Amino acid sequence: MAYYTAVVLAAGKGTRMKSELPKVMHFMAGQPLIDHVLDKVSRLGIDDVLTIAGHGREILTEHLGQRTHVVVQSEQLGTGHAVMQVIPYLKEDTDVLILSGDQPLLSEHTIKALMTHHSVSGASATVLTACLDIPTGYGRILKNDQGFSGIIEEKDADVKQREINEINTGTYCFRAGALKNALQKITPTNAQGEYYLTDVFDIILSSGGKIETLCTDDPTEAFGINNRVQLAEAEDILYDRIRKHWMLEGVTIINPSSVFIDAQAVLGRDVIISPFTLIKGNTRIDDHAQIGPGVTVINSHCRQGCKIQHAVIQDAVIGENCSIGPYAYIRPGTVLGTGVKVGDFVEIKNSHIADGSKVPHLSYIGDSVIGNDVNIGAGTITCNYDGMAKHRTTIGDNVFVGSNTNFVAPVTIGHHAVIGAGSTITKDVPAESLAIERSQQKNIENYTKIRKK
Ligand code: UD1
Ligand code: CA
Repeated sequence: MAYYTAVVLAAGKGTRMKSELPKVMHFMAGQPLIDHVLDKVSRLGIDDVLTIAGHGREILTEHLGQRTHVVVQSEQLGTGHAVMQVIPYLKEDTDVLILSGDQPLLSEHTIKALMTHHSVSGASATVLTACLDIPTGYGRILKNDQGFSGIIEEKDADVKQREINEINTGTYCFRAGALKNALQKITPTNAQGEYYLTDVFDIILSSGGKIETLCTDDPTEAFGINNRVQLAEAEDILYDRIRKHWMLEGVTIINPSSVFIDAQAVLGRDVIISPFTLIKGNTRIDDHAQIGPGVTVINSHCRQGCKIQHAVIQDAVIGENCSIGPYAYIRPGTVLGTGVKVGDFVEIKNSHIADGSKVPHLSYIGDSVIGNDVNIGAGTITCNYDGMAKHRTTIGDNVFVGSNTNFVAPVTIGHHAVIGAGSTITKDVPAESLAIERSQQKNIENYTKIRKK
C-alpha cells in the first residue's frame, strides 16, 4: 500500500448538538466519536494522522494527547478550508485519506476497500458514496456518460439533482499533489459562502485527472451525527453490530437487545451474557464466564468461569471461578483470587481477597488484604475510616470471622485465628488464637413472671 496521511475533519462547531463539548467529544458506546474514527485509522496501519481542530480545540487537544498531530483551523470556513490547513504537511508523491470525525459507523473494511480501489485504479481521487432511500442533507453524486462528473451540495442542487440518491459520504482518497493543486483554486461562491472540499473534483477533472467512486453496500456507514437523536440512533446501530460480532465469535447473548457491550470490550469463547447487562469501557471477559442478569461491569477483568449476577463491578479483577452476587458492589482496586465467593449485599473496595475465601452476606470490606480460605461471617464491617484517614485491615490465611464483627483499622489478624461473633476488634490478633470482645451474657431467670407482678 502506498504511503498514506490520514486527515480527520473535526473542527466544525456541531451547533445542533447544543453542547459545550465539541461534537466529536460526545461519547458513543464507551468512547468519544473521534476515538471510533482514530481506532480504525490506526488498525489500518496509518501512522501519519492529522486531526483538524477548531471549535473546542482545547478539550479535543487535551484528549488526543500525543495520539495524533493536531492542526488548528481557527475559523470554520468550510470543509475545503479545513483541508487547506494541512497543505504544508502533505508530501507530493503520497496519498491522503480524508475522514470526518462525526462518522463513527464507517467500517475499517470499507475504508480499506476504498484505499484498494484508489490504488488499483490509479485515480487522482476516489470518493466513497452510498445509495440512500432518503438522501436528504447530503451532497449528491453527479454522473454523465464518462462517469463521475462532480458533487453538488443539497443547498446548491436543483429539484432534479435532489432526486439523485447516490450521496457523498465525505470520505475520500486523494493523490496528495492533485489535492494540493485543486485546493488552491476553490472559492466560496455557493449557497453557504463556504470553501467546499467537494469543489476540488471539478478542478481535478478539468485538469485531466481521473476520479473514481466506490459505493458502500451498507448505507448506515455514511451516517453522520449532527444532533443527539442521531447520536442515539448511531449508538444503537453500533451496539447491534458489536453484539453480532461477539455472538459470531462464540458468545451467547440472551435477549441481545437488553445487553450493551462497549467498543473496547473483549469477550472470550462460551461466555454467556444474560439480559440487562452492560459491559463498559476497557473490560475483558474470559472464556466460560457467565455475566448477568442485571450486571454492570466497567473497566474490569472477569476471569475464566466466573459467575456474576445482579452486581456492579468497576476497575476490578474477578478471579477464575469466582461467584459474585446477587446484589454485590465491587469497587475500584478490588482483586479477587480464584474461587472467591462474594454474596448478597456485600460491598468491597480497594481490597485483595485470596483464593477460596468467602464473604457471603451483608458485609463491607474496604482497604483490606484477606488471605486464602478465610470465612467472613454475615454483617462483618471493616471500619477503615476514622474521619480523617483510611486505614488497612490485614487478615491471614484460614481465619474464621464470626458474624457481625467490626475490624477497627489499622488491625492485623494472624493466620488460623478465630474471631467470636459480635466482636469489635481494635487490637491485632495473634495467629491461631481466639479473639472475643463482647460483654458477658446475663440471664435473669423468671423474668417474665417478675415483670407481671
Ligand atoms: C459534507 C459534504 C457533503 C457530504 C457530507 C457527508 C462538503 C462541502 N460537503 O457536508 O457532500 O454529503 O459531508 O456527511 O464537504 N469541518 C471542519 N471545518 C469546517 C467545516 C467542517 O473541520 O470549516 C468538519 C466538521 O467538523 C465535520 C466535517 O468537516 O466533521 C463535515 O462537515 P459538515 O459541516 O458536517 O459537512 P456537511 O454539510 O455534512
Ligand atoms: Ca455532517
